[in-house]
Amino acid sequence: MSPLNSGSMPVLVLLLLFGHSLAAPPSFTVDYEKDCFRKDGEEFRYISGSIHYSRIPRVYWKDRLLKMYMAGLNAIQTYIPWNFHEPSPGQYNFSGDRDVEHFLQLAQDIGLLVILRPGPYICAEWDMGGLPAWLLNKKHIVLRSSDPDYIAAVDKWMGKLLPMIKPHLYQNGGPVITVQVENEYGSYFACDFNYMRHLMKLFRSYLGEKAVLFTTDGAGLSYLKCGAIQGLYSTVDFGPGGNVTAAFDAQRHVEPHGPLVNSEFYAGWLDNWGHHHSVVSSAIVAKSLNEMLFLGANVNLYMFIGGTNFGYWNGANAPYSPQPTSYDYDAPLTEAGDLTEKYFAIREVIKMYRKVPEGPIPPTTPKYAYGEVKLTKLQTVSDALEVLSLSGPITSLYPQSFIELNQDFGFVLYRTKLPVNCSKPTPLSSPLNGVHDRAYVSVDKVAVGILERNKVITINVTGKAGSQVDILVENMGRINYGRDINDFKGLVSNLTLGANLLTDWTMYSLSIDKAVDQGLLRGTGPTAADGTQPASLSPPAFYEGTFIIPDGIPQLPQDTYIKLPNWRKGQIWINGFNIGRYWPSRGPQVTLFVPASILSTAAPNNVTVLELEVDPCIPGPCTVEFTDTPILNATVKSQHKQLRKHFNRDDLL
Ligand SMILES: *[C@@H]1O[C@H](CO)[C@@H](O)[C@H](O)[C@H]1NC(C)=O
Ligand SMILES: *[C@@H]1O[C@H](CO)[C@@H](O)[C@H](O)[C@H]1NC(C)=O
Ligand SMILES: *[C@@H]1O[C@H](CO)[C@@H](O)[C@H](O)[C@H]1NC(C)=O
Ligand SMILES: *[C@@H]1O[C@H](CO)[C@@H](O)[C@H](O)[C@H]1NC(C)=O
Ligand SMILES: *[C@@H]1O[C@H](CO)[C@@H](O)[C@H](O)[C@H]1NC(C)=O
Ligand SMILES: *[C@@H]1O[C@H](CO)[C@@H](O)[C@H](O)[C@H]1NC(C)=O
Ligand SMILES: *[C@@H]1O[C@H](CO)[C@@H](O)[C@H](O)[C@H]1NC(C)=O
Repeated sequence: MSPLNSGSMPVLVLLLLFGHSLAAPPSFTVDYEKDCFRKDGEEFRYISGSIHYSRIPRVYWKDRLLKMYMAGLNAIQTYIPWNFHEPSPGQYNFSGDRDVEHFLQLAQDIGLLVILRPGPYICAEWDMGGLPAWLLNKKHIVLRSSDPDYIAAVDKWMGKLLPMIKPHLYQNGGPVITVQVENEYGSYFACDFNYMRHLMKLFRSYLGEKAVLFTTDGAGLSYLKCGAIQGLYSTVDFGPGGNVTAAFDAQRHVEPHGPLVNSEFYAGWLDNWGHHHSVVSSAIVAKSLNEMLFLGANVNLYMFIGGTNFGYWNGANAPYSPQPTSYDYDAPLTEAGDLTEKYFAIREVIKMYRKVPEGPIPPTTPKYAYGEVKLTKLQTVSDALEVLSLSGPITSLYPQSFIELNQDFGFVLYRTKLPVNCSKPTPLSSPLNGVHDRAYVSVDKVAVGILERNKVITINVTGKAGSQVDILVENMGRINYGRDINDFKGLVSNLTLGANLLTDWTMYSLSIDKAVDQGLLRGTGPTAADGTQPASLSPPAFYEGTFIIPDGIPQLPQDTYIKLPNWRKGQIWINGFNIGRYWPSRGPQVTLFVPASILSTAAPNNVTVLELEVDPCIPGPCTVEFTDTPILNATVKSQHKQLRKHFNRDDLL
């Protein structure tokens, strides 16, 4: 290197430093005089949409974000589910589909700002509202309050999470413009201001004084009473079809100045098993969106794409009513990311207020109908305990809950004996409604009935004293909203048989996902005892089959949907990936979304089904079918749809 060259280096460095200091550092603030946000000093309004990375395979994040960008949105909103990232205390997972930092980076690369909702509680129709089930190890814990056990866990989690988030804040060069503290706290019974103040201090200590922190509550004074807190910017949420001015009046009541914000404008709505599929018309969404944008309000459309509750991640409403696997939400982008008429209706409205990006919109991803796949029966759950229950059974006088057995999700087998001769039909009962949530009962390996939380608390059984009673209990998803979120699973109270208390239980914690993934069930034939006559009920059992992706068709594998025509209820895995729960006999969801990313062209694809109620292989062959068209709206024999969470006109008074 010549002396001349080395001498010029400091000049270059000085120039770089000088050039940098000319531009003000990025800033995002609330302007209480002009009633708006300011980004880098300029007046700014966001038009945002909700997308939950936890409900979309990582390979599709970019496609979905790009479609959101092309709709004219300038921001996205996402939740961070605590239980998705800390499956057991102190064990964190931020890799693969859980790599939230990668998700934030993608959003930024595409040109979208981010409204981040790290909880700790998120609702979201997600198991336990995102709180980890292991919090229930403290039996009497008061969640979402100043309870010291709860606070200790929250502090530890936020001590891990928030430092990861900090570099992604807008003022630090990232996409995150605002951060929500808790979620709709005003809808929760505890109304513990010390808890909210504690969270505020915690968030401030990790994110700094400049971070814009906010709360969200239903657009009614009754919600804002316990949800709004000094030091956090209060926003509201409400759906279409109402009086937008009146709804924002609720926000103005607690936040007389600053930007108007609807943090959850419901572009669709959630489903529950056994209820009709929710549909919200594009016209009404477009109309209310237009009204809000006309007022200059900031709006987040919830959901812009709902995605899928893979595995066991769905939540439930109270009184107990679990949500299905699909979280399609009738959103502008479907569960599979398809463009809809609602997408374009929204884009047209946005066009009136800001320039939407030019260029082609990424097309709907093609779907492929792989057709029918024949399955064969493997062992029943009761016969496969050796490979399913790796830790072996635990015995106790009275039944223990999932948490006591150190299991969070899935299934536990409870086994005991009939204490007396039941030659006549004898009621087997859960007098305290303690089957959480559904129990498949067999006596000496013959299926005798199903108990279901809130729905069926007694069945009749017959059998000799000493007969083996197997009760497979399914956790169908924890309540995610309201005061009942301490949702213990399993047999949470005693069962009775006639006048007797059932005691002396042997309980098998089941690692079904591991057994399926490792192929441990493979090749186990059905037990000889299997009949050839169709029965109205059969003991829970596994079924398996394979299919090959056809050669010579370019662009395969593609996404598909699986349909189970003669099956009743259960769980499906493809190549060990837990696709979710199926329950076509209850509806409204009939097909399950299968992303191409889990399919293989290199080897036969393995389909494993745990069917809980019938044996679809008797008398004929049993098949599942891969189709290219989703069905989420089968008619159901149902009661009325639950009341909507928000936008109750009376709340506005
Ligand atoms: C973390 O999560 C990813 C994505 O779900 C999963 O593939 C991986 O196995 C998990 N890691 C651990 C250690 O459990
Ligand atoms: C909407 O609410 C505002 C404020 O409460 C009220 O002034 C207005 O008349 C209402 N509009 C309609 C159409 O009811
Ligand atoms: C059940 O009935 C059998 C006869 O069928 C009898 O031998 C046995 O003692 C009875 N057991 C009980 C516990 O009542
Ligand atoms: C049980 O059997 C008794 C006697 O046969 C009958 O009266 C009762 O309705 C049955 N209960 C149930 C829940 O099936
Ligand atoms: C079952 O009943 C016994 C005796 O009344 C009681 O001690 C125990 O707590 C009960 N167990 C459950 C899970 O309710
Ligand atoms: C399906 O299972 C077989 C047997 O274990 C295995 O060889 C194959 O790789 C699996 N297929 C896929 C796509 O994982
Ligand atoms: C279900 O949705 C499809 C597609 O939108 C529609 O054609 C069909 O009529 C709907 N079926 C029911 C039962 O609502």
